[in-house]
Amino acid sequence: MHFGVIGAGQMGGGIAQVAAQSGFDVTVQDVQQEFLDRGRATIQKSLSKLHEKGRLSSTPDEILGRIRFTTELTAFAGCDLVVEAIVENQQVKAGLFRQLGEVVKPDGILASNTSSIPITSLATASGRPERFIGMHFMNPVPLMQLVEVIRGYQTSDATAQFVTETAERMGKTPLSCNDFPGFVSNRILMPMLNEAIQCVMEGVAEPEAIDGIMKLGMNHPMGPLTLADFIGLDTCLSIMEVLHRGLGDDKYRPSPLLRKMVQAGLLGRKSGQGFYRY
Ligand code: NAI
Repeated sequence: MHFGVIGAGQMGGGIAQVAAQSGFDVTVQDVQQEFLDRGRATIQKSLSKLHEKGRLSSTPDEILGRIRFTTELTAFAGCDLVVEAIVENQQVKAGLFRQLGEVVKPDGILASNTSSIPITSLATASGRPERFIGMHFMNPVPLMQLVEVIRGYQTSDATAQFVTETAERMGKTPLSCNDFPGFVSNRILMPMLNEAIQCVMEGVAEPEAIDGIMKLGMNHPMGPLTLADFIGLDTCLSIMEVLHRGLGDDKYRPSPLLRKMVQAGLLGRKSGQGFYRY
């Protein structure tokens, strides 16, 4: 299996790593060499940790050796499956899929790891809607069990089956849903994170107290503000905007504090500061 990944960030790097751990030949593309270098270093660190814990079936070097890093989209020509994990922006993703549709072999399947952008709209841009699907991994990819498989309006049964089997070969549990704003995961999760941010803005409690209340009181493994910082506040804002636009209800309106923090460049863990400092 030749597995392609676009974007060497938090998610793309993790997806590439797990694909390589599963024995696939992996090609990862990003726009600049420095992003590829950073992605490679993150994968290397994660593999070393898993190796120390005895959780790898081959050596980190062997696994890393299955991943090819490139800035060229044409490297995806022979891929059986390409998963996109670039910035959460509909126009940028659609533009990329328009190009990919021309580059990847006709029977190759294209997938998006988008958190919230309509799969059907990206499928149309790709020019191959039957062979297009949402393959939504969770963060951090090497540790999280779920892959949310999102069928677009024209996704074929064969495509859904191939992607489901691929997720299983990657040691994941795929669960399927249809293409509605936020799918299942983020339609339910994001309004909760947004409400926690609104609580900070209104002075209901300090961030530590909000997170503590949700952890201890609801048995959540991570508080909502820690989780928002972990996901990235820019990504959270994009998802809330998609929910608000797509479902219309005022309960999906992004908190003004979320908007302000993104404008200020406080994006959470990846920028060094969000609700907490890193
Ligand atoms: P990130 O900001 O860590 O990484 C994005 C990467 O894509 C960067 O390395 C960037 O240089 C690269 N990129 C941007 N435009 C590109 C292009 N045109 N061609 C190639 N590479 C390009 O973002 P992250 O967190 O990895 O998110 C990626 C996608 O995964 C988004 O769609 C997001 O909604 C989704 N996602 C994020 C989760 C999270 O917890 N962060 C969870 C599940 C899905």
